[in-house]
Amino acid sequence: MARIIYINGDYVAEDQAKVSVFDRGFLFADAIYEVSAVIGGKLVDNDLHLARLERSLNEIFIPMPLQRDEIAQVQRELIARNGLDEGVVYLQVTRGVADRDFGFADDMKPSFIAFTQQKNLVNAASVQNGVAVGIVADSRWARRDIKTTMLLAQVLAKKSVNAGGFHEAWMVEDGFVTEGASSTAFILTGDGVLVTRPNSQAILPGCTRRAVIKIAEDRQLRLEERLFTVEEAFEAAEAFLTSASSLVTPVNRIGDRIIGDGKPGPVTRQLQKIYLELALAD
Ligand code: PDD
Repeated sequence: MARIIYINGDYVAEDQAKVSVFDRGFLFADAIYEVSAVIGGKLVDNDLHLARLERSLNEIFIPMPLQRDEIAQVQRELIARNGLDEGVVYLQVTRGVADRDFGFADDMKPSFIAFTQQKNLVNAASVQNGVAVGIVADSRWARRDIKTTMLLAQVLAKKSVNAGGFHEAWMVEDGFVTEGASSTAFILTGDGVLVTRPNSQAILPGCTRRAVIKIAEDRQLRLEERLFTVEEAFEAAEAFLTSASSLVTPVNRIGDRIIGDGKPGPVTRQLQKIYLELALAD
């Protein structure tokens, strides 16, 4: 059965979903996207994703194509029409269609597309067993807090580490880990402090990051939002990464350095378990 795609108000079979070659998303990556997890047919942390979508669009002066609750309705409709039990819903809003020109009119009509992707999230081998991450230089632009589709630096970062058998790339700037190519980086220090980089223009404010921090605070875990170096990450007792599509994924190795005993650590397991329980309970 052909997947049903949402495009500018219509639900169509995927081979019928067409965008213009003059869409600025295509020509300039002049576009914002979001990815929400679906588990058991339900959207996870979706209010956070829609709030971030609105913020990202606002930062680059693209109007919301629909109200937040209308977008959520599109997401639910796609889940229903495609019978999606587990996977993701992808949303993309571009500035719209116009002949190629760096300048743009203030009244452009945004393009809005959305589709589902079926994926095992909870039982993915990476989530269950943990992954290795490679280290790369962070070569992105200066506004990483905006979730644009301008992802070439991350595409190439992942490509370069995948060749070495790594699942994800942790990006480094001035000796400090910024984040994963498509995830947030966390470490647990030898004395039990959970550390992740504070939100700023240097990283994407992760929705899963926010949910995990709330869990840690509610459980009175010691938490520090601060910069950490690659060397500190090498010495960590535990490490993990978070994103909508990878949930809480243990990191067993960073570069050639084994983390802890090379298996998912107990604090990581606990956060993973609680995160899933809350996602399923909502
Ligand atoms: N990526 N940092 C970057 C650079 C990301 O691209 C992502 C998500 C995250 C984690 O954010 P969240 O927890 O809100 O998913 C952090 C998505 C999943 C993607 O590009 O497919």
